[in-house]
Amino acid sequence: MNEISIFGAICDDKYLILCPARDYKRLEAGDAGPNTGGMGAYSPAPILPDDQLNAMADIVTRPILAEMARRGTPFTGILYAGLMMTADGPKVLEYNTRFGDPECQPLLMRLKSDLVDIMQACIAGELDKVELDIDERSTLGVVLTAKGYPGSYPKGMPISGIEKANELDGVYVFQAGTKAQDGQILANGGRVLCATALGKDLKEAQAHAYEGMACLSMEDSQIRTDIGLKGLKRLGLA
Ligand code: GLY
Repeated sequence: MNEISIFGAICDDKYLILCPARDYKRLEAGDAGPNTGGMGAYSPAPILPDDQLNAMADIVTRPILAEMARRGTPFTGILYAGLMMTADGPKVLEYNTRFGDPECQPLLMRLKSDLVDIMQACIAGELDKVELDIDERSTLGVVLTAKGYPGSYPKGMPISGIEKANELDGVYVFQAGTKAQDGQILANGGRVLCATALGKDLKEAQAHAYEGMACLSMEDSQIRTDIGLKGLKRLGLA
């Protein structure tokens, strides 16, 4: 499946294109198993290089925004378009008025501009004044879930190694389904955390993210082992 998620901050006719990310929806390597909310993601995505984003926005997002404005309900906020790239061109699967999870984690690691500044400019209608600074390098995130997700799953398992992973160069563990209790971090959801890493290219980002994941330990957990492989294949690197 050739999915890609594109994100923009929008206020009236001002449109700031943020980093795209490629999400992995199926639970298991090789796109096997049930659909999930996302088992990992990377950015940029060779299937839609950053320099083609503006042209893609002309096709899939600007017409929607123009129609909303025409109807007297202009949109302000984050618009996320989930696309399927097909032989017949891009097909829109969904629009969401939010960031995606786990796309947001690699996106945030590439975003050198302060997201709060972008949001405030969005509210003030001053997105045209924002100078977006995006890291040219690659980022990749691997999600750790509780075993059983996306069906029923246990909670309360202690998680260790988060600080150790965060000490690795360019690695950051974003927590989602966790809670702090008695000095420990415990699993408290299906998608528990996302080990995310920056690298000079997709291969290095992938290696760093899995190194970060290797620092972590949680009983009854599962991860996908092939996040990034599709992009590497497209680049002829796998
Ligand atoms: N990763 C898909 C979503 O956030 O809806």
